[in-house]
Amino acid sequence: MLTAAVAASNPENSGYLRACLQQTGFIQSVAEWGISSEQYPAPGESVPDMVLLELGASAEACFAFSAHLRRLRPSVCTMVCSAKEPRPEVLIEAMRNGVREFLGQPVDPQVLQGAIERLIQERGNADGQPEEKLVVVMGSKGGVGTTTITVNLGVQIAQVSKKRVLFLDFGRPVGHASVMLDLQPRFSVVDAVDNLQRLDAHFLAGLLTRHDSGLEVLAGTSNADLWAKLSARALSRIVNVAQGSSDFVLMDLGSVYPWEWNVALKTARMVMVVTEANVPGLWTLEKQLTALASSGIDPQRLRVVVNRWHKTDEEALKSVEKRIKCGVYARLPNDFRQVSESINLGTPLSRNHNDPLTTKYRQIAAEIAGIPVEAKPKGKALFGLLSGR
Ligand SMILES: Nc1ncnc2c1ncn2[C@@H]1O[C@H](COP(=O)(O)OP(=O)(O)OP(=O)(O)O)[C@@H](O)[C@H]1O
Ligand SMILES: [Mg+2]
Repeated sequence: MLTAAVAASNPENSGYLRACLQQTGFIQSVAEWGISSEQYPAPGESVPDMVLLELGASAEACFAFSAHLRRLRPSVCTMVCSAKEPRPEVLIEAMRNGVREFLGQPVDPQVLQGAIERLIQERGNADGQPEEKLVVVMGSKGGVGTTTITVNLGVQIAQVSKKRVLFLDFGRPVGHASVMLDLQPRFSVVDAVDNLQRLDAHFLAGLLTRHDSGLEVLAGTSNADLWAKLSARALSRIVNVAQGSSDFVLMDLGSVYPWEWNVALKTARMVMVVTEANVPGLWTLEKQLTALASSGIDPQRLRVVVNRWHKTDEEALKSVEKRIKCGVYARLPNDFRQVSESINLGTPLSRNHNDPLTTKYRQIAAEIAGIPVEAKPKGKALFGLLSGR
């Protein structure tokens, strides 16, 4: 991840540029400066990896600023944005003062993303790559427990890690995560998409609803018709801002999503595909895994999760594992009474360590959070680790 600063002529433009930068997924922090010489960083003050300057009324002031930044940090990348097509002499002047790119204003976040990607590639800057915090949970088909799993994993990760965990509810046709957690969200993913021009980390934080466990939820839409305006591109900008402002991001993607989503899935650290061990579930699972792998998603990142597992399923699962050439990542035991009660009460699963289902959730959460599982004093794994896998 890179550090950045913006220097614009007014707070509104500055906020827009900051949001664009955070939506690229490559930027860790954004400082805001003015263009006038009194607001120049002083020698010794830290200069970020890249600076986005608004050309404004005075090209001279803007280029002087760029030259000043280069003196303080020769490797700084300055990009200038301008509402007008620059004349050739202005471009030459810009180059002389170390400006790397000229972007049209209002800046198109995708164009900016492309420019930053080129910069990272040219510099061979491995540190510039976005951090992989995203865990996507999707169903091989509808009704297999995708939302139950995402909600309970999110709660457990928040509890075991004590870090910032964001939940993005992209379930279709409507999102159920808030209902399962008994939350009354004031805002949803629709508000995030409606306000993309100012969606930075701070704005996103204002749209989230906090659960007692610490999990922060961007609620899904409660109106299926609104999916028409929730494009894959817009949602991936939300994901980027979420990743830049948290430690873990969990996404409930449901089981029906447009193929454009595969691009965003490539950036996920882990894609869990949930199934039940019955013929329709396993049949769809095989098709889905093949489709995901052929769309360029690294098979190493795919995880098969069998929900409502029972030991009599093992024979069928063994032959599926052979065919898909991949082991089942997790088996979540069937416990209809406990899960139904939890869903209807709007409380996540919370039984103690002797309960196989909650134990399994805790175990997966600890693994995702990178927290070593403690050993029981008697020498047995505290969470019965791996016993059901
Ligand atoms: N481990 C489990 N044991 C028993 N029942 C379960 C388990 N996990 C989930 N269920 C049940 O599965 C049903 C579907 O759950 P959920 O709504 O999470 O599925 P989904 O895949 O998100 O559905 P949709 O496709 O509608 O979004 C619920 O009724 C829930 O009680
Ligand atoms: Mg669901």
